[in-house]
Amino acid sequence: MAQVTFRIFRFDPEKDKESRYQDYELELEPGITLLNSLNRIKSEQDSSLTYRMSCGSAICGSCAMRVNGHALLACKTQASGLVKDGVIQVDPLGNMEVLKDLVVDLEPFWKSLKQVDPWLQPDVSDNPENERLQTPEQFQRIDDATTCILCGACYSDCNVLGVDQEFLGPASLAKANRFIFDSRDAKTRDRIEFISEMNGVWDCTHCGECSTRCPTEAKPLARIMEVREAAMQAGVHNNNGARHALGFRETVGRSGRLNENYLPPRSVGFLNIPALIGLAPVGLRMFMRGKNPPIIHHSIDKADEVRKIFSKFEDYRHHPTRSSRPDDGASD
Ligand code: SF4
Ligand code: SF4
Ligand code: FES
Repeated sequence: MAQVTFRIFRFDPEKDKESRYQDYELELEPGITLLNSLNRIKSEQDSSLTYRMSCGSAICGSCAMRVNGHALLACKTQASGLVKDGVIQVDPLGNMEVLKDLVVDLEPFWKSLKQVDPWLQPDVSDNPENERLQTPEQFQRIDDATTCILCGACYSDCNVLGVDQEFLGPASLAKANRFIFDSRDAKTRDRIEFISEMNGVWDCTHCGECSTRCPTEAKPLARIMEVREAAMQAGVHNNNGARHALGFRETVGRSGRLNENYLPPRSVGFLNIPALIGLAPVGLRMFMRGKNPPIIHHSIDKADEVRKIFSKFEDYRHHPTRSSRPDDGASD
């Protein structure tokens, strides 16, 4: 059995002015989880150590915490794989205030979740007498999104939430997906429109951290991309994010390269004078620091090839059954 140092974040608001780390030594028996290691430390060494846990089976979502800087479920993770130079560093989840030791205030997480109306809203105008049925295929469509256990690991490690707490966040957007694609829900359009606005799906920077940290198949980034696609297909374009994506496609599709000067006015709307004026200070700051994109682009090798790829994708988008799929290896 290996001797390991658990370096654990400690903070008791009733005693401590500042947080600190406390080291505990533990012999790791083979197969022990991080949660059971903490349980052993608590019962054998220090009963004041505070953390959340309940099921011990990766179901309730309460034991999420950060280890070596990344969120995970303590009951689902073997401690031996977390050792770095003889140490396992354990911290509370990020993007939320610490209440005590490894316990954070989840209120911002719940608040964000409530904003997406995380319950089924069927059409009840026909006064149904029985439950609404789903085919296995219809359930399959939402199967992954329904596996979210609301552990908060994705919320903890989302980079956008680190700088903007108004962002709805990965778990809420994945939850919105779960109802948008539910065959029994009648608020699909309203839901898509709501999360296409500011702080919704288009504010995600697709860093992928949420999906990497997610202990289930909910994988928020994949769910976000599905909703973006659904928004495009439903014609929900009257927002900055969708216009930005369309502008990106237009400029690269036309010339084979990205005209960054085109994107800001395309995103806010060419006739949206107040928003265009609002962009001026940013443009000026970029100019002063020499960071503004060139007006006339340098020539780029094979830009024509990029244009052809876009044209092929456009063709496929409009005629998906044609044999000229973008990935069919056609030499054009
Ligand atoms: S992919 Fe998007 S939602 Fe997920 S962590 Fe990154 S910015 Fe946040
Ligand atoms: S999406 Fe994944 S990481 Fe986020 S709360 Fe749900 S289960 Fe946890
Ligand atoms: S204790 Fe329930 S998910 Fe870990």
